[in-house]
Amino acid sequence: MVKPIIAPSILASDFANLGCECHRMFNASADWLHIDVMDGHFVPNISLGPPIIKSLRKEIPKKFNEINENVKFFDCHMMVSEPEKWVEDIALNGGDQFTFHYESTENPLGLVKLIKKHNLKAACAIKPGTPVDVLFELAPFLDMALVMTVEPGFGGQKFMKDMMPKVEKLRQNFPDLNIQVDGGLSRETIPYAAKVGANVIVAGTSCFTSKDPQELIQYMRDEVKA
Ligand code: DX5
Ligand code: ZN
Repeated sequence: MVKPIIAPSILASDFANLGCECHRMFNASADWLHIDVMDGHFVPNISLGPPIIKSLRKEIPKKFNEINENVKFFDCHMMVSEPEKWVEDIALNGGDQFTFHYESTENPLGLVKLIKKHNLKAACAIKPGTPVDVLFELAPFLDMALVMTVEPGFGGQKFMKDMMPKVEKLRQNFPDLNIQVDGGLSRETIPYAAKVGANVIVAGTSCFTSKDPQELIQYMRDEVKA
């Protein structure tokens, strides 16, 4: 059985106070931090990269629970061309998971092996225009699959409900796989994603603008469990 994981996306945070913003989310019981790395090439926007991840990791050291899970987990969503180039940097600078885009590489399985060689969790994302079937062969080797629910590149976009059949198909075939949704997730849209089996919920704008992020995170967790 997969468990609910709520991952606030720091793209929606106040970058001038990034360390405090990240602490604020972990204090509000966030399971992971979702870190959007954009290169201005794979997507039409530039966000942050390994040096900032390094500073964040120094500010928020890894902390392990009784089953050896890092409870200060950095989920790195790599919206970059040539993702192979960045695996080592993400590992050395304190990332925990490396999510590459299926559309960004010619050799997805080779990349998964490279990621695992660097002791990172390996995940693969698909853009809204990519059919979910491309993940079927790869899924047995993945720690997580990400079904994008907006076009990657910007926070604050509208949730694409028409992506839900992809999540549903993936869940039917892979009952134990972490399935993440990313883009436009909020109190209003989470029921659609939870109903079809998404268990890892990225929430940027909704978490960071919430007056009570702890309550929102718990609400989302309960929706996934229900
Ligand atoms: C978009 C990013 C998302 C984004 C989500 O390319 O991958 O992680 O930050 O932001 P919201 O939750 O505001 O849609
Ligand atoms: Zn993301």
